[in-house]
Amino acid sequence: MSFDDLHKASQQQLTTAVDEICKEFEVTPQKLDELTAHFIEQMQMGLSNTDESAENKGLPMIPSFVTGSPNGTEKGMLFAADLGGTNFRVCSVTLSGDHTYKMEQMKSKIPDELLEDENVSSEDLFSYLARRTAAFIKKNHPEVTETKDIVKLGFTFSYPVLQTSLNAGTLIRWTKGFNIPDTVGKDVVQLYQEQLAKQGLGNLKVVALTNDTVGTYLSHCYTSQNTDSMTTGEISEPIIGCIFGTGTNGCYMEELDKVTKLPKEFRDKLAAQGKTHMVINTEWGSFDNELKVLPTTKYDVYIDQKLSANPGFHLFEKRVSGMFLGELLRNILIDLHSRGLIFNQYRTNEQLPHRLQTPFELDSEVLSHIEIDDSTGLRETELSLLQTLRLPTSPTERKEIQKIVRAISRRSAYLAAVPIAAITIKTGVLSKRYHGEVEVGCDGSVVEYYPGFRSMLRHALALSPLGSEGERKVHLRLAKDGSGVGAALCALVA
Ligand code: BGC
Repeated sequence: MSFDDLHKASQQQLTTAVDEICKEFEVTPQKLDELTAHFIEQMQMGLSNTDESAENKGLPMIPSFVTGSPNGTEKGMLFAADLGGTNFRVCSVTLSGDHTYKMEQMKSKIPDELLEDENVSSEDLFSYLARRTAAFIKKNHPEVTETKDIVKLGFTFSYPVLQTSLNAGTLIRWTKGFNIPDTVGKDVVQLYQEQLAKQGLGNLKVVALTNDTVGTYLSHCYTSQNTDSMTTGEISEPIIGCIFGTGTNGCYMEELDKVTKLPKEFRDKLAAQGKTHMVINTEWGSFDNELKVLPTTKYDVYIDQKLSANPGFHLFEKRVSGMFLGELLRNILIDLHSRGLIFNQYRTNEQLPHRLQTPFELDSEVLSHIEIDDSTGLRETELSLLQTLRLPTSPTERKEIQKIVRAISRRSAYLAAVPIAAITIKTGVLSKRYHGEVEVGCDGSVVEYYPGFRSMLRHALALSPLGSEGERKVHLRLAKDGSGVGAALCALVA
């Protein structure tokens, strides 16, 4: 065989291997059917389950204690704090009462040691949050320290919390980077409130605890100008709030009668006050942790078991959210290299560029550049991989990498359609009033910035049991600032 023939044969081997991998990432319409049916079943199970240790407990389906939706006329100045990823944000939100708001904020990057050091305690974390809150108050609202009056704050805490009232909830487990074992099982509002008092901010009262999806839902209701049902105060159909970013999750309005995990007396009490619905935080990141229907490749298994901080949990999130898209690509590339199919200038895995060997070093932003690269010889991809990973590539390698990237993002977007289809079907919203349309408020870097994500999601909705007619009635709207505005709205009603 000539050198050329050898070269072609090895290129062909790479292409064949990549095609096989891409095939494993396909989500067929039949799979969408199975996933949607299972999702509905898991929602129903989760709404009634009260036993956390039950073998099949369904989705977490956490009652948020939010029983109404804003209609855009709310007014007031409130504080909000937001912990949800690698940043902590403190804001003051002024709701103007005409669907608009003004916001002042201070964003701080969580110090690496709080994310990585094994010996970090809850106190270290919450004391940091309280110090940053104090810094914001001192700079932007010193009047708060000069009064003894209660000042309300809404706290968006975007991790799974077992909420016991509007302003209390214990952490079930950390996701998205944090790993501070002694916080699990503790009331995060109490932890924060104690540290605020130590900063001389005892009058800043954490009156509401909310998840970012619930915040997104509320902020969407507040800013949206075309939700007639909101202005009449009737909530006869749910709309969904969801996040596709570093993590993924969603919430929706459920009929109180169906939330049977809440004690009957409590539901009756709410009913007597005229409350008919409650926002449920599904924590869909944990959908199908039993792996009954989720598509699973060996890369998913490896990332979950060997590289993630919460093996066995949040398996849906690990196939969908931004935190894992780059990690999937990185693991596939390392696998192809160890099979002698790519980057052959490096003889062993250990010789590969350090950044390619480092878990979670490959950001989903890199994938978004590769996804839409149509430059000759995929030059953009070449530069992006060089800049971020110090990884030189050949044109053939780049072509194959692009195929893998597109398979990963497509699977993510197709899976992302499942909860939306399932909630829409379960609640029967399309056959109810308001022209049978459903509004979905979305936030998060993936849904906002990943090229083609929303159209792939829509495509999957049309292939799902919703069908193309149903898909046309589902409106995905970007709802910004949920964690700030949503928490403020929650604090307002508290
Ligand atoms: C958390 C959710 C959160 C979502 C989006 C997930 O990892 O469990 O509580 O809503 O990320 O931020």
